[in-house]
Amino acid sequence: MKIHITDSDWKSIDTDLLIYPVSETSPPSAQPGSGPDEPLDALVAELMGSGEWKPSKGSSIILFAPRGCAARRVGLIGLGSSSSLDSGSFRTAVMNTVRSLRSAPVKRVTAVIGNMSDQEEACRMLFEGIFLGRFDPGVYKSSGSTVDDSFTMTLVSSLDQEKTQLIEEQSEILSDAVNLARKLSNEPGNLLCPESFVGEVQAAASGTDLGIEVMEEKELREKGFGCLLAVAQGSSNKPRLCILEHNPDPGEPPIILVGKGVTFDSGGISIKPSASMEEMRVDKSGACSVLGVMLAISRLKLPSRVIGIMPLVENLPGGNAQRPGDVVTAYNGTTVEIINTDAEGRLILADAMAWAIEKYKPRCLVDIATLTGACVVALGHHRAGLFSNENNLCAQLLEAADRGGEKLWRMPLDDEYKESLESKIADIKNCGDRWGGAVTAAKFLESFIGETPWCHIDMAGTDFFQSGINKGTPPGFGVRTLVEFVKLIAGRDS
Ligand code: BES
Ligand code: MN
Ligand code: ZN
Repeated sequence: MKIHITDSDWKSIDTDLLIYPVSETSPPSAQPGSGPDEPLDALVAELMGSGEWKPSKGSSIILFAPRGCAARRVGLIGLGSSSSLDSGSFRTAVMNTVRSLRSAPVKRVTAVIGNMSDQEEACRMLFEGIFLGRFDPGVYKSSGSTVDDSFTMTLVSSLDQEKTQLIEEQSEILSDAVNLARKLSNEPGNLLCPESFVGEVQAAASGTDLGIEVMEEKELREKGFGCLLAVAQGSSNKPRLCILEHNPDPGEPPIILVGKGVTFDSGGISIKPSASMEEMRVDKSGACSVLGVMLAISRLKLPSRVIGIMPLVENLPGGNAQRPGDVVTAYNGTTVEIINTDAEGRLILADAMAWAIEKYKPRCLVDIATLTGACVVALGHHRAGLFSNENNLCAQLLEAADRGGEKLWRMPLDDEYKESLESKIADIKNCGDRWGGAVTAAKFLESFIGETPWCHIDMAGTDFFQSGINKGTPPGFGVRTLVEFVKLIAGRDS
């Protein structure tokens, strides 16, 4: 993206879209270079006065610019009433604006950020909003993509060129990672199976310093991944375990990230109702986010050793599918009574986590998964559930989510919840009764973790059925949080 920085008067800049932040408390005419006689400010004041638009946090509206303003269109961005910038909602508002104009002839964008409280952060959120807003989910439309990447950006700001360029590069790395996660997790089940997912990982990782290892069915069987194989056996698409390694310092115990990669979840023999079943193509989002994080941290050259693990299966009710009542043996020897074949995510995660802990002796492990409908019932679509056996690690992850502009909420892990997983014939059942399903799923995972400091993110609500902007397109939840988490552990602030 070509960037010009100017401190000249925005009113005279000839541009296709002017991004113009407006605060609830100070009227537009109070901004430098503005005034009640200025046609755009007069229009904004009128909109606010009549109550037709309120500059609340995260809101946005697109107008054709009034006569006397050199811009063609104006995207008003609501800042709310607080004097400090709310990063996440600023980014969302920019993203919404850019997204609505995706197929409009917008080649020159100008943003007025010189009067904002934290210009660096505003600039970062602006770039992320633009990159994320230009993402086009319509890849299978025969009319082709309408998004044109060649456009220029003018910033009305007092930031210097070098700093801005650096922010732009970092935002692009992060947004590329998020957009790749969004694109892959939205792929249809017939076009992306475990094997071709590995192909995508290889393509994405080529040209980076990431190490890649792939286990196929035979090796998984020899090594004893009994739970993962039990899920996979109902589909003719064979499972994979894909491992990416970012290893700037081989001596160091790694951070391990594990992402659920169910390329399609029909439920298996415990088959799901048909309404909305097509959304279960997104059940590989955890793996997609882990892939995104690994690419971003490698391109950002973060100094920590990180291993990303993607267990990949398809959960179908084929003739060889596992049945309710089966007993399978996990990688670590635990015997599991299968009660519901639709509780498959925890099975593949359990094997992957137990293997990773044995092999890498990590300093900590974070798993991320679209794990339970119960988590959607508990928290809705705005926060993902966070479960942890270690308070410090949990606090770091919450801090990372905050920095990344994503929302987590800590959930309980009391031992009483484990009672419903007691089996009469095996060590554990793969699901409990109806109640507290997000917690019992986390308790199941916890039993494969041992003493390793661990966090589990259940993003079933935040990654699926998103309202508003992301409706129908998964948002790549978790990528920003986990990149921030790795930065935090590496002691890097930006
Ligand atoms: N992939 C689903 C969880 C899910 C549900 C994600 C709704 C997004 C939206 C998971 O594999 C699943 O089916 N979980 C079951 C567990 C139950 C059988 C114990 C569920 O939540 O119903
Ligand atoms: Mn399921
Ligand atoms: Zn699932």
